[in-house]
Amino acid sequence: MIVLGIETSCDECAAALVEDGKLILSNVVATQIPFHREFSGVVPEIASRKHTEWIYGVVEEALSRAGKTARDIDGVAATAEPGLLGSLLVGLTFAKAFAWSRRIPFLACNHMLAHLYAARLCENAPAYPYIGLLVSGGHTIICRVDDFDAVEVLGTTIDDAVGEAFDKVAKHYGLGYPGGVHIDEAARQGDSGAFAFPIPSLHKGQHRYDVSYSGLKTAVVNQLEQFRKKGRAGELNTSDIAASFQKTAVEILLRALITATDDTGIKTVVSGGGVAANSYLRARLADRDGLTCIFPPKELCGDNGAMVAGLAFQHFLRGDSSPLSADASARVKGFKRRYP
Ligand code: KG4
Ligand code: ZN
Repeated sequence: MIVLGIETSCDECAAALVEDGKLILSNVVATQIPFHREFSGVVPEIASRKHTEWIYGVVEEALSRAGKTARDIDGVAATAEPGLLGSLLVGLTFAKAFAWSRRIPFLACNHMLAHLYAARLCENAPAYPYIGLLVSGGHTIICRVDDFDAVEVLGTTIDDAVGEAFDKVAKHYGLGYPGGVHIDEAARQGDSGAFAFPIPSLHKGQHRYDVSYSGLKTAVVNQLEQFRKKGRAGELNTSDIAASFQKTAVEILLRALITATDDTGIKTVVSGGGVAANSYLRARLADRDGLTCIFPPKELCGDNGAMVAGLAFQHFLRGDSSPLSADASARVKGFKRRYP
């Protein structure tokens, strides 16, 4: 079964063809980064307008790169939640129209479940259950995963998402946009022990799997202000800041994650989302004794249509489909939260 997956939840206009939930026939990601760079963040109005202009061409490109036509598509899916409402509606409406005109099944997908599915597009899909580590610009979720759509949230951020912290720190230090990848790069030249940033102590009671990034973000931002006040801003080594911030950000994640793997006894971790591309996070988890950690290839960590097509295939296989009246939602629905 060939599924066309469409993803327009934020600033990537993406479409992919995936066969049987596994084989990626094409994966086209048209990024809007240059249009949002001057604002140092995604401008919702620009994002939805660009999606409207690009979606047809991006889907055509995905079909052509796969050597297929619309007639070869057996099912179509689009991200319906969470994300920027105006952006979501573009991909969702396109997918519905495609499904209606071709009389094929349609599925409205959850973006976070799609990120979690990305690792299953690889050679050896891990056996359930595992602990999911979903880390992106909008979300930070530690969850127990029992099936492609059976996810129980154990912990989440109580304030900023980890990707958001990367982006805000990079913006403050003028490291580039979007921030995560620039901090990752700058940190390679820096000393991660140069600055000691605070790690929140949440690992007790009902917050034992939760994380917090606002304190770290404020501390890193204040560092520059302190140097400025002393007239020494020029002496601040931004690579050291990047490395020290990144080390602390990852440490915060790992503490909550390890608490979850210890408590549940589930020793396989599957990651997804833009921050899963972070080289320091990948390195720290690679040499963690007693844990098997699986990351999607870097090109499948950020937003893409292949993860949507893969997830939708599993739903179609089970006989699920969505009505053409399915709506978009800015917030995550259907994720259960369990307090320890
Ligand atoms: O999953 P994604 O593409 O979009 C959302 O669903 O939010 O994630 C985007 C986030 C941004 O915050 C970006 O800075 C971060 O992923 N990111 C990274 C890296 N590459 C992207 N963060 C840390 N290290 C990276 N290499
Ligand atoms: Zn995403």
